[in-house]
Amino acid sequence: MNTYRIAAIPGDGIGTEVIAAGLEVLAALATRDGSFRIEPVHFDWGSNRYLREGAMMPADGLDQIKPFDAIYFGSAGDPRVPDHISLWGLRLAICQPFEQYANVRPARILPGIESPLRGVGPGDLDWVIVRENSEGEYSGAGGRVHRGFGSEVGLDVAVFTRSGVERIQRFALELARSRPRKLLTLVTKSNAQRHGMVMWDAIFEELKGDYPEVTTDKMLVDAMTTRMVLNPASLDTIVATNLHADVLSDLAAALTGSLGLAPTANLNPERDFPSMFEPIHGSAFDIMGQGIANPIGAFWSAAMMLEHLGEAGAASALISAIEQVTGAGRVRTRDLGGEATTAEVTGAVIAAIAGANA
Ligand code: IPM
Ligand code: MG
Repeated sequence: MNTYRIAAIPGDGIGTEVIAAGLEVLAALATRDGSFRIEPVHFDWGSNRYLREGAMMPADGLDQIKPFDAIYFGSAGDPRVPDHISLWGLRLAICQPFEQYANVRPARILPGIESPLRGVGPGDLDWVIVRENSEGEYSGAGGRVHRGFGSEVGLDVAVFTRSGVERIQRFALELARSRPRKLLTLVTKSNAQRHGMVMWDAIFEELKGDYPEVTTDKMLVDAMTTRMVLNPASLDTIVATNLHADVLSDLAAALTGSLGLAPTANLNPERDFPSMFEPIHGSAFDIMGQGIANPIGAFWSAAMMLEHLGEAGAASALISAIEQVTGAGRVRTRDLGGEATTAEVTGAVIAAIAGANA
């Protein structure tokens, strides 16, 4: 029996609600499957800890979670704490040192879900966005000097390294090759950003020859937004920098019907460190504590975690349970136009998982 030790970091806001729901679903899958066990350990890191103790996570936090098989993360963000503190104190404080450089964001219209795009249904929008997750605009390099004076300067330096660009582009080329359409779009802004972005384009030209099965094309990020909206079926796998893919993935999530559905994997492909799985939606303070958050983004993220752990059967059982529930259309949260609670959606997905056993 394989036992997977999962570091559960629910974090802030609705993170606590959706991670609890996700752990219930994982337990149901393990029971159904019978060949693996999930052992979650909870870490109460986040903004409440910051307000109490002055840090989002303990100084030896990374040592505490390094031995785990995976990290299941809720969200970080609280109106009482500046966003750059909660982000750099937790999510980036884990992603960067654990070299989770490949941020994988599938965007697909699930059965029964309506896209805001007219006439676009399941099958017309099935993308995976690969976001560079360790450098670029999120490098942390920069500074702020002459504070408060007329001469004040604020600098955020986008750092692109050849090794960082090569590894994410190879990852995306390999992922594109493994998907049926074998289609990869490189997104940059090499007309305006004439150094790092031109290097991205040049490295892509060098690497793509190693993947002759993959059809590639290139877009500038601004034009990419219009293509995503006007011609979604022309896209499949997409690779972009940290910030560009951050923006494009929110657009992608909205086009698939709701941000509440969208999952993420922060992967360390070499497996030197645990990888981290989280819903994209964030802490959503406006609805926290009401039990109405959509847990599907957290469930889909759990499916990506199972896939990464080598439990492909359980991962696809979870995806089909999610699809049964969205397809039936009876149990949906408010973001999808329904009235169901988090617990009702969780119950429906667990019932679908149990049904798959019969
Ligand atoms: C995301 C989020 C984060 C990011 C925020 C919470 C800082 O938007 O995961 O896409 O920008 O990386
Ligand atoms: Mg984002």
